[in-house]
Amino acid sequence: MSGKSDKNKKSSASPSKKVDIKKNEVSSDKVDLAKKDVSDKSEVLIRVEDLCKSFGNNVVLDGINIEIRRGEVISVIGPSGCGKSTFIRSLNLLEVPTGGKIFFEGEDITERGTDRRLIREKIGMVFQQFNLFDNLTVKKNIMLAPVKLKLMTKEEANKKAMELLERVGLAEHADKYPSQLSGGQKQRVAIARSLAMNPDVMLFDEPTSALDPEMVSEVLNIMNQLAEAGMTMVVVTHEMGFARGVSSRVIFIDGGNIREDSTPEEIFTNPKNERLRDFLGKIL
Ligand SMILES: Nc1ncnc2c1ncn2[C@@H]1O[C@H](COP(=O)(O)OP(=O)(O)O)[C@@H](O)[C@H]1O
Ligand SMILES: [Mg+2]
Repeated sequence: MSGKSDKNKKSSASPSKKVDIKKNEVSSDKVDLAKKDVSDKSEVLIRVEDLCKSFGNNVVLDGINIEIRRGEVISVIGPSGCGKSTFIRSLNLLEVPTGGKIFFEGEDITERGTDRRLIREKIGMVFQQFNLFDNLTVKKNIMLAPVKLKLMTKEEANKKAMELLERVGLAEHADKYPSQLSGGQKQRVAIARSLAMNPDVMLFDEPTSALDPEMVSEVLNIMNQLAEAGMTMVVVTHEMGFARGVSSRVIFIDGGNIREDSTPEEIFTNPKNERLRDFLGKIL
């Protein structure tokens, strides 16, 4: 552990199982970077072995291997169409692998008979297009799954929803409908909705790509708070500031596999893979 600052020390101290994100003001003009420093000894939450996925003859994932430890924040980068979405969607079985295994907390979830609903409770997901229910208020969007799945009573879910809305800075919008919110606000609701399930891991698929530029930082700030609070996160992103400043690890996918898997420092200052160098040359 480097412990370069108090903030680093705090964020690297054994990440807690349940996330308790601090009440925090959302600043919209600046992302407060808090790079994580996760010990190699943290428990492995997800282990991916030889993951393959094809759509017809199109081999999209060609034998991916990776271990994801509790508390890690992993940014997934790579050119458009390289399989980033397919990869993270496979982690919670939104895509069914055509080969290989995925272990979550030691259990092979690719085996027949896995309770996919349970997996999606434990592995939350935030999408580029928010995927909120437009016919439900903000608060009801957040309450829906915990109540439907009988994880909470209506009263508990209501309380939880209000706590989460407070944390993402949207308490006063609880009774509005998604159409009355900005893109950045919608995405913060989507994050709160995912948190309502108390997931062990959160997957983000380009969470800021559909946003107007001025709304990107309000969402990144919430993600940064989550990272600081110890949430395990896998984030497909084109926000290189986030990848470099917040994540503990960056993986570069190209041609159906992970071509480089390293610290942000190594990836951005000393990239070894030629295609990664090429990719960074185009986007930085
Ligand atoms: N449901 C699908 N059916 C057929 N092909 C798909 C499907 N989803 C993704 N693909 C293909 O898989 C490849 C990788 O897509 P994707 O994972 O979305 O890439 P990325 O997120 O890196 O841009 C693309 O060639 C895409 O056309
Ligand atoms: Mg994608």
